[in-house]
Amino acid sequence: MAEREALLRIQDLSVTFPSGDGRVAILDRVSFEVGENEIVGLVGESGSGKTMTSLTVMGFLPPSGQVAGGQIWFRGKDLLRLTEEEMRRVRGREIAMIFQSIRSALNPLMRVGDQVARVYQLQRGLSRKEAYQEAVRVLNRMDIPDAERRARAYPHQLSRGMCQRVLVAMMVACQPELLIADEPTTGLDVTIQAQIFELMKDVQQATGASLLLITHDLGVVAETCQRVVVMYAGQVMETAPVEPLFAQPCHPYTQNLLRSILRVDKVVEIPEADVSLGEGMTYGLRGCRFALRCPVVLPRCWEEHLPREEVEPDHWVFCHNYG
Ligand SMILES: Nc1ncnc2c1ncn2[C@@H]1O[C@H](COP(=O)(O)OP(=O)(O)O)[C@@H](O)[C@H]1O
Ligand SMILES: [Mg+2]
Repeated sequence: MAEREALLRIQDLSVTFPSGDGRVAILDRVSFEVGENEIVGLVGESGSGKTMTSLTVMGFLPPSGQVAGGQIWFRGKDLLRLTEEEMRRVRGREIAMIFQSIRSALNPLMRVGDQVARVYQLQRGLSRKEAYQEAVRVLNRMDIPDAERRARAYPHQLSRGMCQRVLVAMMVACQPELLIADEPTTGLDVTIQAQIFELMKDVQQATGASLLLITHDLGVVAETCQRVVVMYAGQVMETAPVEPLFAQPCHPYTQNLLRSILRVDKVVEIPEADVSLGEGMTYGLRGCRFALRCPVVLPRCWEEHLPREEVEPDHWVFCHNYG
């Protein structure tokens, strides 16, 4: 979208799943970018397609899911056209993902130190012993107290916050160019959440990696991210650098979202909402999925593909009403 070359450029991505006689588009022409060395927040109510977007980037779409259109450009290659073998090489080395459920991302039967060490063995070709030393060092860097002892623990012996640090340690070990973190701190204590985001930010700055941070916490976005992508029901509504998005939201959905958050002083979580639009999500239907709830809906909102309007450089709004 912007002129600069992005690290990741998702373009008009549509993903469908079977439903009844037809297919629903759980992603409808999703487009956004993550630049080099940039932290981008992907926000939206639950069910808006954030996880599905990242699973598609990783090549982990569930079998019944189908890419119905679009491209995912990463370093000049379209990830959707790679073979499984080529994709395996991209995963871990170039793009890594931290999943929503933390414990399931760790192997329950393996000591955490060995798990981190394995990454060093596989990705960097270190010997077993060197890899283990490196693992303890990186666990130390993650502020894990008594890292040497904790390295010998199994995931179930550690708190969720500790497990999360182990995962961040694994990501440091991978040194991916792009890290996708899907609600990495959901369910954790607020102070621990803040520490983990601080940690991720440090790691991002130290390694020069880019980070796509999926969250429904706009406070985290404001503090951690440089740019924001707002999704609703499988469509991107608006994307902008953090400051203009908060100061001058242009999409009625973003405006609603920010208003609802500002009302309740300091509570910055996006409320859970039912975004299952039934037939409104049928693949091939045109129109804006927010039309049903939009206070300024126009007749063409139901019928025409979302336009992409440039508000100012790097600030895009996908709305018929703009301008
Ligand atoms: N395995 C699946 N098969 C079919 N539909 C799914 C599957 N997983 C999720 N969905 C649907 O895809 C949509 C997007 O879900 P998801 O990407 O998980 O949203 P988010 O991460 O924003 O909460 C939702 O409507 C959800 O019901
Ligand atoms: Mg999700």
